[in-house]
Amino acid sequence: MKQYTVHSRLGDYPVLIDTGLLRDLPSLLSGMGWPSGSRIALVTNPVVLSLHGKRIGDSLLSAGYRLETLLLPDGEAHKVLGSVSSLLDQILALRWERREPLLVLGGGVTGDMGGFAASVLLRGVPVVHIPTTVVAQVDSSIGGKTGVDHPMGKNLIGSFYPPKAVWIDPDLLMTLPLRERRAGLGEIIKYAMIGNARLSALLETGIQSLGGEPFDEALWSEAISESVSEKSRIVSEDEHEGGLRMTLNFGHTFGHALEGALGFGGILHGEAVGLGMLAAARVSERLGLSGGLSERLLFLLKAAGLPYQWPRDVSVEDLQKFWGSDKKTQGGRATIILPVSWGKVMMTRDYDQETVRLALSDL
Ligand code: NAD
Ligand code: GLY
Repeated sequence: MKQYTVHSRLGDYPVLIDTGLLRDLPSLLSGMGWPSGSRIALVTNPVVLSLHGKRIGDSLLSAGYRLETLLLPDGEAHKVLGSVSSLLDQILALRWERREPLLVLGGGVTGDMGGFAASVLLRGVPVVHIPTTVVAQVDSSIGGKTGVDHPMGKNLIGSFYPPKAVWIDPDLLMTLPLRERRAGLGEIIKYAMIGNARLSALLETGIQSLGGEPFDEALWSEAISESVSEKSRIVSEDEHEGGLRMTLNFGHTFGHALEGALGFGGILHGEAVGLGMLAAARVSERLGLSGGLSERLLFLLKAAGLPYQWPRDVSVEDLQKFWGSDKKTQGGRATIILPVSWGKVMMTRDYDQETVRLALSDL
């Protein structure tokens, strides 16, 4: 088992990674102070419930837990305030109490909404994340960012709310469709490009196996552990995104705008991050800040089976509509993270729309 500790102002928490970890879920829960007989709300979606939730629920029931299963709708298009509001209605109807935990089982969409609900319910109830997609295991379950989308832009409503623990079982990914697994590689490539040399080396030799079939459990476990170690280190140092954590948004300013322009759900988050990183690399090259990075990235995106061509029908003007409301916008200008070498990025608001337009047309 691998274990990392994330430092947070509201309390440090462990991230555990092990194949088959969930077989001993009752022990994990009692270790956290919720013994048999406690009430647990399993927050998930219908897809994950049918694949994994029933087995998990049965193990809790047979260990004597009082289980409440609560469903959020599936898909980015449902990551909205109304879905969280319905979830809160259901939990409040159960007369939930402040010490009773939410166990949030699912991908980033379920995790972001479940975490947000936990942060506002009774002014905060404990939440444990059990992430079930690559994006959620390597990124969204760690660091306490929660929230929902708004027609004005992505993740515009939310909170920083650290979980009590994150329990990762790479085996859960065996049921994940190949396209979703590949999308998660977008975030893993990001960690390599912003500075994790071990991930760069691993991707150099392993990208085709990671992006292909059959599911290579050993290689995936290594990629997940290394990514978790990188994310845990960064958010421990800068929980509320004062500086270092902004580097995790490499590829996200363009990526989020692309998601918005295509309509939330029109492209997978990890796919949009991949294209967003490519756009940022081309902008950096056009500004004379770097050379050759987009070629190396392009090789990885292709080998991973990720999209590498900018959608023809999305223009700079379309993106601008969403930049204006990006959370890292200051004085009307979005901050973008640009790569300057492989393993090093910088933040800037010093670029012009024409450079961005030319960079996108290069793609
Ligand atoms: P997702 O949650 O929509 O999951 C993708 C699909 O896979 C869904 O249909 C889901 O039901 C299904 N699924 C989940 N687990 C499965 C499994 N084990 N087997 C089969 N199917 C499974 O998408 P995602 O890529 O996990 O998350 C994307 C979201 O995460 C975006 O909204 C993004 O903004 C957010 N995000 C948040 C953070 C953060 O720090 N909070 C970081 C990165 C991404
Ligand atoms: N996914 C970006 C962050 O956690 O800051």
